[in-house]
Amino acid sequence: MTKTTSFPKGFLWGGAIAANQAEGAWNKDGKGLSVADVATYKPNLDVKNFAGHMEITTESVIEAMEDPTDKIYPKRRGIDFYHRYKEDLALFAEMGTKALRVSIAWSRIFPTGEEAEPNEKGLVFYDNLFQEMKRLNIEPIVTLSHYEMPLALSLEYNGWTDRRVIDDFVRFSNVCFDRYKDLVKYWLTFNEIDSIHRHPFTTAGIIPDKCPEGKEEEVIYQALHHQFVASALVTKDCHEKIKGSEVGCMITKLTTYPRTCTPIDVELTLKKNLENLFYADVQVFGEYPKLIERQLENKGIHIKMEENDRVILKEHTVDFVSFSYYMSMTESGDENAERTAGNTVLGVKNPYLPSTDWGWQIDPKGLKISLLELYDRYQVPLMIVENGMGAKDEVVEGKVHDPYRIDYFKEHFKQMGEAIDEGVDLIGYTSWGAIDIVSAGTSQMSKRYGFIYVDQDDEGNGTLDRLKKDSFYWYKEVIETNGASID
Ligand code: BG6
Repeated sequence: MTKTTSFPKGFLWGGAIAANQAEGAWNKDGKGLSVADVATYKPNLDVKNFAGHMEITTESVIEAMEDPTDKIYPKRRGIDFYHRYKEDLALFAEMGTKALRVSIAWSRIFPTGEEAEPNEKGLVFYDNLFQEMKRLNIEPIVTLSHYEMPLALSLEYNGWTDRRVIDDFVRFSNVCFDRYKDLVKYWLTFNEIDSIHRHPFTTAGIIPDKCPEGKEEEVIYQALHHQFVASALVTKDCHEKIKGSEVGCMITKLTTYPRTCTPIDVELTLKKNLENLFYADVQVFGEYPKLIERQLENKGIHIKMEENDRVILKEHTVDFVSFSYYMSMTESGDENAERTAGNTVLGVKNPYLPSTDWGWQIDPKGLKISLLELYDRYQVPLMIVENGMGAKDEVVEGKVHDPYRIDYFKEHFKQMGEAIDEGVDLIGYTSWGAIDIVSAGTSQMSKRYGFIYVDQDDEGNGTLDRLKKDSFYWYKEVIETNGASID
């Protein structure tokens, strides 16, 4: 039997949440609207129609802005972490959490993104949050951009499409560095930067009907380039302002296997995986991969760059690679191959793997494969900053028995241990939604990831009381024993 006692001393065991899915308080203390505040709850989703719930138009945005309620906009209410963070942090501390990944809601600090001065009340919230974390010995891992840019920037500039947004982001980031420099060491720039292709509005504020016709893809690459440059610029600023700080990029690790060993399946798979790695390539190696540049050229896509952009990318690369890992996919040249949903992707089904209720294929071995692949390629420390399974939990006589979740984590942790034993420098692990929060993709509350249950349903009914699930106690022991209890 494989022994997984290999986690290094000081390993950052913890959990992760994002402001827009947890905080609520969408219009409190001067916060401006963000792109997340107009995301609607879509019941009865077909798991194979992953893209259906991402549709957005200028009209739908305006309609949402005119609605003063949170009725169909669950991210507006989140789980009220804004007011309950102390209670939640106490629970995390009780679980033994060493690190908590959170994000800073940009529109809490700059409501429209362009104010001359930051919103002091917004800054105070994060002062209190990080101070409380420090008191409880919980290391903050802070994402600067997690699907929550100010909506005004989206409407005014079509989001990251416009180069001027780089300055707004750099200003926001610097305010955060100056303010939290004594409390935060680990920073992530853009959550799942690659997701701009899958949901351009959520990731980059791009509204399709504002793009020149037939140019949507070019617009997305242009916006992505702006994010790459912004990421490099704030990496530089962070390093200069916070001595000993560590800045990471963050990608969605969508590991893909060939459906069969037919060479066409292998070729398509290779291309899928190279495409997935491209985003970290730019941020770690500081340059666009040659094959990607050629691919863009072949498609007639031209990215406008300023003279210094390539130098900026090259000179300010990240210190570590962080990523989310939920599932794996397969790829096939056979158009009729059965498909299944994943994390905002639709891929070919793997007959060897089980799936969650949302169709995401559960593949612990894929996590080890991803760790080996990423470490071999980049040779910098790795951090898993999202992993977990969305499931429907049931409260029975005041308890939540969730053996499925324990199994999921146990198998993933074993594979992490093996990867560490084989030489991977893995420094931390923050499970997704350590406490139940609103789903990013579907805005459902019933898609639960947490070790802590939150009494709230999809329509926002419930006491918001917190309840420790069975997995809470299991994870507590894992952390206490630094992984030894897994065996
Ligand atoms: C990641 C996002 O892609 O997946 C998170 O960074 C998100 O914000 C997580 O919540 C799980 O996805 P979902 O749609 O099930 O919430």
